[in-house]
Amino acid sequence: MSSENKKKPEEKSAQFTMPAPLSNLEIKYTKIFINNEWHDSVSGKKIPVFNPATGEKISEVEEGDKEDVEKAVKAAREAFQLGSPWRRMDASERGKLLNKLADLMERDALILSTIESIDAGKTFVSSFFADIPGAVKSLRYCAGWADKNQGRTVPMDGDYFTFTRHEPVGVCGQIIPWNFPLVMFAWKIAPALCCGNTVVMKPAEQTPLSALYMGSLIKEAGIPPGVVNIVPGFGPTAGAAIAYHMDINKVAFTGSTEVGKIIKEAAGKSNLKRVTLELGGKSPNIIFADADLDSAIEQSHHGLFYHQGQCCVAGSRIFVEESIYDEFVRRSVEKAKKRVLGDPLAPGTQQGPQIDKEQYDRILDLIESGKKEGAKLECGGSAWGNKGFFIEPTVFSDVKDDMRIATEEIFGPVQQIMKFKTVDEVIKRANNTTYGLAAAVFTKDIDKAMTVSTALEAGTVWINCYSAMSPQAPFGGFKMSGNGREMGEYGLHEYTEVKTVTMKIPQKNS
Ligand code: NAI
Ligand code: MG
Repeated sequence: MSSENKKKPEEKSAQFTMPAPLSNLEIKYTKIFINNEWHDSVSGKKIPVFNPATGEKISEVEEGDKEDVEKAVKAAREAFQLGSPWRRMDASERGKLLNKLADLMERDALILSTIESIDAGKTFVSSFFADIPGAVKSLRYCAGWADKNQGRTVPMDGDYFTFTRHEPVGVCGQIIPWNFPLVMFAWKIAPALCCGNTVVMKPAEQTPLSALYMGSLIKEAGIPPGVVNIVPGFGPTAGAAIAYHMDINKVAFTGSTEVGKIIKEAAGKSNLKRVTLELGGKSPNIIFADADLDSAIEQSHHGLFYHQGQCCVAGSRIFVEESIYDEFVRRSVEKAKKRVLGDPLAPGTQQGPQIDKEQYDRILDLIESGKKEGAKLECGGSAWGNKGFFIEPTVFSDVKDDMRIATEEIFGPVQQIMKFKTVDEVIKRANNTTYGLAAAVFTKDIDKAMTVSTALEAGTVWINCYSAMSPQAPFGGFKMSGNGREMGEYGLHEYTEVKTVTMKIPQKNS
């Protein structure tokens, strides 16, 4: 045991100084990243980038469109040609490069977390302690896999020797959202590069800055030109150009179900590129009366309010057993009222702004619908402050399953609490949704936990915890929450083509 570990906790915390965001942050990278070089947009257009906490413009980035995507795809295709430095590189070397990129992210953690906070409205604490380390871990997890994605030998009928090779899919278009810009960037490039693919990445128009900073680190790490290209731009222009492209082999998308449908349609109308989708959710979180109530209330609070409710896994339909319903609601409201709103960069802030006016208006509209449809507004329910896109932590009780707040993804700090009586009833109600991303059950009864977790139609089910995620665990949705899995060993399959190679074995004449 090291001497550090022998110290009493109070001694450790006395030594711990909270890292501070950079006060003199300079936004250096605002151009389109192709072939490890910075390019102006072909159209000359730019996208303004705003700080959602203040509404102020932080920067402008080049606005990529079809022509810029075209240049990026050419670079990615060139880098993917057989015999290119990337295709000839040892798999173990690809792993080394991913680890090097992770090292550089750790070196620049303060810069990256400051960028993420001012661009995406994330609290600095969550950027620094959750997003950056999460992204780093994803890179390192896939770095370890780079030289282990192996094929098999196959007992083929006849005089043949048959084996499978795991080959890269090719040029991968990757379209990511604004809620976890860096984590999503890492979740997309790590498995793609691990398996030897090349990438054309489109960050969300609201949050392009951390992705572009990553471009500079990709170059510095020594990843060959053209392997990762980053084109900031809007969905219906740059995003659609990726989805319809005839020379892109696969698209990986995270975002709304509505756009997920558009991407699949585009793949069908163009070259039938492979598509993986990670879409929205309306995740049920079931609390039985025998649960550890303190923990269930705490986990349900964070499972909904974390990052202003802007999480695809947000537990936004909380079903609570009748006998503990009133206490659960009362204590959840107490917690919600105590949340500290404010400047995401300030220490102590727990809740920052929603990402933009569109999301803010949509959330406030859904809150109004909840009031009108007869749910009981326990706290919050309005906008907060006089600048930026803040919304009060809001809790609704007496929510009925068919209300809009109980069926639509809100993506905001709005908690719905419903009442149930029996196991069969709650399973039916929990599954009565087109979504199937995540779910949770809180109970001390192992039989109940197994029955319910088996019955729930969701890609991830948590028992007595919420939002527990790490790169080893595959993630994705049942039903309209998506197709395919990301991260974990399963995630590698989505970036691998399996080639069956069969060789005739000459037979000796006896
Ligand atoms: P969105 O699905 O429109 O945007 C996500 C990404 O898709 C962005 O990079 C965007 O530029 C791109 N995109 C948009 N239209 C496209 C198109 N026609 N072709 C190709 N790419 C396109 O999501 P939006 O509008 O930002 O948010 C709407 C709702 O979607 C949210 O309220 C939330 O319910 C859900 N959402 C879910 C996320 C998740 O983590 N699963 C992340 C972001 C949003
Ligand atoms: Mg949209």
